[in-house]
Amino acid sequence: MTAPIHVAVTGAAGQIGYAALFRLASGDVFGPNQPVVLHLVELPQALGALDGIHMELDDCAFPTLVGVEKHSSDNLEAAFAGCNWVLLVGSVPRKAGMERADLIRINGPIFTSTGKAIQASAAKDVRVVVVGNPCNTNCLIAMSNAPEVPKDRWFAMTRLDQNRAVAQLAIKAGRPIAAVSNVAIWGNHSATQFPDFANAKIDGKPATDVITDHAWLKGDFISTVQQRGAAVIKARGASSAASAANAALDTVKGIIRPTPAGTCVSAAVFTDGSQYDIPAGIVCGLPLSSDGTNWKTLPGFQIDEFSRSVIQKTVDELLQERDTVKDLLP
Ligand code: NAD
Ligand code: LMR
Repeated sequence: MTAPIHVAVTGAAGQIGYAALFRLASGDVFGPNQPVVLHLVELPQALGALDGIHMELDDCAFPTLVGVEKHSSDNLEAAFAGCNWVLLVGSVPRKAGMERADLIRINGPIFTSTGKAIQASAAKDVRVVVVGNPCNTNCLIAMSNAPEVPKDRWFAMTRLDQNRAVAQLAIKAGRPIAAVSNVAIWGNHSATQFPDFANAKIDGKPATDVITDHAWLKGDFISTVQQRGAAVIKARGASSAASAANAALDTVKGIIRPTPAGTCVSAAVFTDGSQYDIPAGIVCGLPLSSDGTNWKTLPGFQIDEFSRSVIQKTVDELLQERDTVKDLLP
């Protein structure tokens, strides 16, 4: 009998949590032969909703789901005990007219106790995906409060931006999604991010050869991806949820499955100052590749003057966010 994987999801009764749990339970992420125990974590006042979700999980009769634990955010050490994966979703989403960084002093403090609890009780091989916004800086806060958990176990989610960029390129080129590859997201999950069209491929050829409208690539393409979250909020009256849950699961899959040659997966990771002239000590979106166990930052992405200027802006914003939360970084 294969030992179960323990997966914690904070904010489990929220929009993203609800969209993610059933796919985690179904075998979609870890495979049909891997048992899963879900740890559902919520604010005390939302525990009743977790009871309903638990009933629905039972009612799916997923063969891969071998346990469900429900935990209050008042006792995070119990919530994360033995967890191999922790998806940090629980936090407040922005409303129309706000930037994600406007949430920093509301959501940031959640991630200090979260980091401490992960260090105290999660499994030794724990890996963490931060979804709650502003996710890069919340990830920095959590990892800084868990100094004994290796830095390469922490990811902030820029996969939704990658998926959005892939879709926009495919639509513009009139090609299927599967034709688009090697799309990196640099920097912050914010309106300054750089969706990198310059290294992207369509049918294995440079996207800049296939899409000859370079003004679109440098203009509307970038701004559409940067502003997509706000556009969804405006249209839906609530922030993206199903696509965000999908991206969180894609992030996990991107780490536990080998990355096909010639492409990359996007996530924001802790920088050590050695790559692409990006300063050390921030959680920055980069092109990654995994062998299914370990990941690395992919070398060799071309950065011209235009790309560098956009990357600089988003890195500057991350440095500024770090400064704003310095009291939360031990
Ligand atoms: P939601 O309001 O529907 O759900 C959030 C849930 O978190 C609620 O059920 C709430 O009770 C719970 N919660 C709040 N504080 C908590 C805490 N301290 N511990 C445990 N649970 C807590 O929101 P949502 O739509 O699910 O979005 C969640 C977060 O994800 C927001 O910050 C949103 O901005 C962010 N988000 C990020 C991305 C991304 O690409 N990185 C994409 C979409 C949304
Ligand atoms: C998104 O990109 O959809 C999320 O980060 C939600 C938001 O606030 O835009």
